[in-house]
Amino acid sequence: MRYSTQTDYGKPIPLHDEDGFIAMRAAGRIAADTLDFITPHVKPGVSTAALDALCEEFMRAAGSVPATIGYHGYQHASCISVNHVVTHGVPSANKILREGDIVNIDVTPLFNGWHGDSSRTFEVGAVSVLAGRLVKTAYEAMMVGVRTVRPGATLGDVGAAIEAVARAARYTSVRDFCGHGVGRVFHDAPQVLHFGKAGTGVVLEPGMIFTIEPMLNAGKRDVKTLGDNWTTITKDHSLSAQFEHSVGVTETGVEIFTSSALERQA
Ligand code: MF3
Ligand code: CO
Ligand code: CO
Repeated sequence: MRYSTQTDYGKPIPLHDEDGFIAMRAAGRIAADTLDFITPHVKPGVSTAALDALCEEFMRAAGSVPATIGYHGYQHASCISVNHVVTHGVPSANKILREGDIVNIDVTPLFNGWHGDSSRTFEVGAVSVLAGRLVKTAYEAMMVGVRTVRPGATLGDVGAAIEAVARAARYTSVRDFCGHGVGRVFHDAPQVLHFGKAGTGVVLEPGMIFTIEPMLNAGKRDVKTLGDNWTTITKDHSLSAQFEHSVGVTETGVEIFTSSALERQA
């Protein structure tokens, strides 16, 4: 593996070769398949711990290991974030999904030494008009970010495009968490901010691999992390939705490693 001549906050940015792309296709496929698999289980009455256990079983059966287990002391195979939980929701037997909830499930299977990182926000039964619109807009924000990726574009272009989608819908894009380089390393350079100024920041080069994972809030963008040091919620308790893909910069554009046929049915 080579590195870019550019750095991000002083850290080298990997440039992956074809073997890296082949490995990311395999890891990304397992992440996408896990989220497809869990989709019909996301129903009123199920606990987030039960969903986590199903995700773990699926990832292991596929020959991967949930990279989140043991990561900085985290103990679960997924993060499951319900309603006003922005990210890093901790699965619990006491957290039962109810009709009208929106719930993000984020999985990172480690397969053959490579990380496939993806999340989707699901609707539990029928949801409010606002919740449905927030989920759709979060997906659109992620995809607009993905479609901005090509050699010569900048990470500022990506962030600006994402935040413009949030703004147009009168939502906010969370600034306290970002996408990240991904590959053999779970969280690598560069940092992929979901806001920014077009024409600024790292210039994208073929071989860069990273996630795009915007969190959109229905209210203010401010968040706070609870006493468990993981669960992060909106300060104003407004709803939040997130989607995440792992992508690679190709010679001509972008390759999504974690897409599936089912993903738009969230
Ligand atoms: N999958 C998350 C991300 O998108 C990271 C979860 S780390 C954990 O980067 F420890 F909280 F699981
Ligand atoms: Co990620
Ligand atoms: Co993730």
